[in-house]
Amino acid sequence: MHTDISKIRWQDALNKRNQEKSLRELKITNVLTDFSSNDYLGLARNTELHNSVKVVYDEATLKNKLGSTGSRLITGNNKYFEQIESYLAQVHQSEAALLFNSGYVANLGVFSTLPQRGDTILFDELSHACIKDGIRLSQADRFPFLHNNLESLEKKIKKAKGQVYIAVESVYSMDGDFAPLKELAALSNKYNAILIVDEAHSTGIFGKNGSGLVCELSLEDQIPIRIHTFGKAMGCHGAVVVGSQVLKDYLVNFARPFIFTTAMSLHSVLSIHEAYKFISQNHHLQCDIKNRVHKFNNLNSSSLSKAISHSPIQIIIIPGNEEVRKSAILLQNNGFDIRPILSPTVKKGSERLRICLHTFNSDEEIDKLCKSLMLTSSLA
Ligand SMILES: Cc1ncc(COP(=O)(O)O)c(C=O)c1O
Repeated sequence: MHTDISKIRWQDALNKRNQEKSLRELKITNVLTDFSSNDYLGLARNTELHNSVKVVYDEATLKNKLGSTGSRLITGNNKYFEQIESYLAQVHQSEAALLFNSGYVANLGVFSTLPQRGDTILFDELSHACIKDGIRLSQADRFPFLHNNLESLEKKIKKAKGQVYIAVESVYSMDGDFAPLKELAALSNKYNAILIVDEAHSTGIFGKNGSGLVCELSLEDQIPIRIHTFGKAMGCHGAVVVGSQVLKDYLVNFARPFIFTTAMSLHSVLSIHEAYKFISQNHHLQCDIKNRVHKFNNLNSSSLSKAISHSPIQIIIIPGNEEVRKSAILLQNNGFDIRPILSPTVKKGSERLRICLHTFNSDEEIDKLCKSLMLTSSLA
């Protein structure tokens, strides 16, 4: 009886989503030209990197275990974790680094653990769902500020209680624009607030050896906590929180999403290490992706009503779930893997096509895409 009521509720919710054209479904599409994955530098598909991961995996002394067999604090820790964490601390110019199983989990760990009851978290309104979910798990007061709006943030800082934490992304996942990191660092400094930057979409793409935007802007000393994820430009998965040794020790002791989960497998740890080494040996990748972005912006600047984005994430707003879905289908029928981003993932009225550029997208593919986009937007 109980189960039946739940089933009805679940089905009602699904029917509502279906009516609103926002039903999420799992699909497998891999024959189209990739303009939607987060594999910006093509590392996930790079055969040289695949081979180097295979070589180090075959050589690793612990490869007799498929899984890590436990959490880091019990049986899951090994020398490879220790090695890569010191390597990542160096790359990202921090004192210490702590691996997490994913960016989602890292954000849950940081935001649920560090701010305490009586503190305040101020977060950009366009923060990723996992930042918001981490904040929800915290006991601190929390308030959004207007996207990239320093005035809105400062007003809220002035009213905030306790230790203030500020949460932003260096590159916004659904908009591709940058946070004004220098100004945010200065404001945090002025009010003694702790700035936390999620570098999910800038890791690998910006900064020496893929260290991210904070390092590219030489702000590492002013931003005490950064989250880097490996499922985007690094081509694998997992994440790292970088900061001080005290921060690391505190998270190891108190961050439940770190403590109560099985550590990642050896293969994952080695893949992350090899991906970073690959970027440090292939400096051209960062130039290649910048050139792709430049080309796309040049082709589209006059013809499409879209804001210029200097990251690989480009968006074209087509309000309405049905409308944006139709545009995506038209593009998919022309051979491009482009996904619509629907509400409620983004605000109603700001539904969009999210186009991700990659180093492996050829000039011809970008030209063809731009022509199709013009056609599509004139039909929308
Ligand atoms: C800004 C941001 N942070 C964190 C995440 C989550 O990272 P992961 O996919 O490694 O869980 C994402 C994923 O899309 C993201 O865009």
